[in-house]
Amino acid sequence: MMDRETSSARLPLVQRPRRNRKSDWSRRLVRENRLDVSDLIWPVFLIEGEGCREAVSSMPGVYRQSIDLTVAAIVEAAAFGVPAVALFPNTDPALRDEKASVALDPDNLVCRACRAIKEAAPDIGVITDVALDPYTSHGHDGLLVGEEIVNDETVSVLARQAVTQARAGADIIAPSDMMDGRVGAIRSALDSEGFQNVQIMSYAAKYASAFYGPFRDAIGTSKTLRGDKRAYQMDPANTDEALREVALDLEQGADMVMVKPGMPYLDIIHRVAETFHAPTFAYQVSGEYAMIMAAAQNGWLDEERAIMESLLAFKRAGASGVLTYFAPRAARLLQEA
Ligand code: PBG
Repeated sequence: MMDRETSSARLPLVQRPRRNRKSDWSRRLVRENRLDVSDLIWPVFLIEGEGCREAVSSMPGVYRQSIDLTVAAIVEAAAFGVPAVALFPNTDPALRDEKASVALDPDNLVCRACRAIKEAAPDIGVITDVALDPYTSHGHDGLLVGEEIVNDETVSVLARQAVTQARAGADIIAPSDMMDGRVGAIRSALDSEGFQNVQIMSYAAKYASAFYGPFRDAIGTSKTLRGDKRAYQMDPANTDEALREVALDLEQGADMVMVKPGMPYLDIIHRVAETFHAPTFAYQVSGEYAMIMAAAQNGWLDEERAIMESLLAFKRAGASGVLTYFAPRAARLLQEA
């Protein structure tokens, strides 16, 4: 029952956006973006051994695992429909050197993992990281000469690293090093070795970010990294430069491009997607994962809702998909929904 006063307070509105939000079925009907399991790429951390599993303390719920356990987890993720995984090795510190020699070893941790995954889960895409940081004694993505990360010498090692990974069965080569000209060099090295069908997902706009801290714990470079990566990763203040970087990588043969980190750079993802209309991925990096988990563990955020909302944001910004440590969990939540 409405009294006179209430009805006279009624606004003469023709448009009432709330009408479409009145019930769940209606909200579903007008929903503009959806997260699907096919949007998820799962980054995993590898260690040597068998049956080995170590917690990454700055990333609650994330582990470094030996190849056998990694393969088992990936078989499970594949069954949930996760389309691809990205491999990151924690190399034995004794094997790291100035030249990143192990990056070119066809039996290194990543190559062995690649072969094992392809055998156990042939239908999941395997993405390998091209960069030297898991292999250098100084923790940089390139070769250090004096104070400088030398570009062109690094690129020739990266191209050989990419071929080594392709031989091990990698489906997608993902250079995360930010050297100039590496995509073109990798494309021609792959092609000349007969790997025309191996894709390249370039970390095209990768920023020098504070949000990579927990990842460096995971691969064991946080203590060894000498200085910072600002002379090759992008300045967080820049936007137009990201578009130039993406344009260069596409011209050189990138099949897909990535923006990294994710949530603090949604504007970049949006501009890249709108400008190039190429497959555009976001990397929800380790620090973003750590922030959500830390707040949730304190009871300050609803963990599952925060995870799913953060992932949906990438779709809304225009991303084709997301690299996220939440991938297996999100896949399960999507299936339950
Ligand atoms: C380095 C690399 C980094 C990440 C992926 N590849 C860190 C860095 O540039 O130091 C970060 C991923 C994350 O933080 O989750 N090649």
